[in-house]
Amino acid sequence: MTTTAALSRDPHAPFDIESVTVDDPRDDEILVRIEAAGICHTDLVSRAAGSPQRPVLLGHEGAGVVEATGSRVAGVRPGDRVVLTYRHCGDCRNCRLGRLAYCARSTVLNQFGARPDRTPRITVAGTAVRDGFFGQSSFAGYALATADNTVVVPGDTDLAVAAPLGCGFQTGAGAVLNVLAPEPDARLVVFGAGAVGMAGLLAALTLPGVDVVVVEPAVRRRELAVELGATAALDPAAGDMAAALADLTGGGATHALDTTGRPEVLATAVSALGVGGAVAVVGLGAGVPPIDLRDIVLGGKSVRGCLEGDAVPAQFIPRLLELYRAGRFPIDRLVRTYPHTEIGAALADQRDGDVVKPVLTRCAR
Ligand SMILES: NC(=O)c1ccc[n+]([C@@H]2O[C@H](COP(=O)([O-])OP(=O)(O)OC[C@H]3O[C@@H](n4cnc5c(N)ncnc54)[C@H](O)[C@@H]3O)[C@@H](O)[C@H]2O)c1
Ligand SMILES: [Zn+2]
Ligand SMILES: [Zn+2]
Repeated sequence: MTTTAALSRDPHAPFDIESVTVDDPRDDEILVRIEAAGICHTDLVSRAAGSPQRPVLLGHEGAGVVEATGSRVAGVRPGDRVVLTYRHCGDCRNCRLGRLAYCARSTVLNQFGARPDRTPRITVAGTAVRDGFFGQSSFAGYALATADNTVVVPGDTDLAVAAPLGCGFQTGAGAVLNVLAPEPDARLVVFGAGAVGMAGLLAALTLPGVDVVVVEPAVRRRELAVELGATAALDPAAGDMAAALADLTGGGATHALDTTGRPEVLATAVSALGVGGAVAVVGLGAGVPPIDLRDIVLGGKSVRGCLEGDAVPAQFIPRLLELYRAGRFPIDRLVRTYPHTEIGAALADQRDGDVVKPVLTRCAR
């Protein structure tokens, strides 16, 4: 079938909206009409990565309605509303232990994973598109997914709000609820109030008695964080950060979430922890953080990297949706929708800090 897609032909150029052909679903595939697709920072990291094979089709926070399923697909039917997430094999040791984001085949399955016979799922003017990003490549009107990355959600779900649960919101919320699990009276510091950090903030506020301080350079994001319930939001460039955090956390944070991907921020997060504190690190960055070994050892501190919030999406996404419906996890406050032809404007607003989570809609034309 023919539809439109936002293709990347050059790592540094804007996305191109082009007409593409999506193949029919194979036995194990699910054809989804994409109603909404969130833009995650990881899409931009992957666009900039300079893959030799172009065009590339990104998008890994798709949500929509199932159009058709292959003969071997179980548990997903045409007409189901679904949120798409990352792939996992289900067979390796980590999958068997429920650590799906650490699947031994994760890179193969999620980084433009090809079909076994390497035929493209998507073509543009007869040329293969590099697809299979997180097993969905959802910056398009239709996507081909598989049962292991498809989560069926209730029929009345607002898909524009739910789509980012597939990655960004799941990551921030899971890092707090699954990895850090702060107890009552905990004092959490969130570094970076983008989609991941804000979801972490909102998740922490669903727990009893957790106090959250946010550190974020973008003024509008700081203001929104306080509106949503943060005790304070600090500009990392203003004044003595260590003293301000010590003051706001009563001498040291019990937990921290670092979403910035910056080594020097991770070092700040570790030093802001009190004795026995833990920091979850999710930002995709590189470099060596200047962390004092004595501080870690004598302080009994933990630094824990984490993918996709350590979540089992089939359970965690419905749980987060229930919290949203109950008014306890207002992720709609983070979302702004754009027709998918306006992906360039969506990215500009995200870059300026005006919008936390841009979501593309009206994708299927
Ligand atoms: N580990 C995972 O599974 C996973 C999943 C999704 C996203 N990610 C990664 O997580 C990161 C965050 O994603 P996002 O969508 O929220 O991105 P984002 O760009 O919207 O948010 C990052 C925020 O950090 C802020 N920031 C920059 N410098 C800072 C500093 N010195 N101190 C404090 N804050 C600072 C930015 O202003 C921005 O608001 C990205 O690196 C993304 O690739 C990882
Ligand atoms: Zn696996
Ligand atoms: Zn992502």
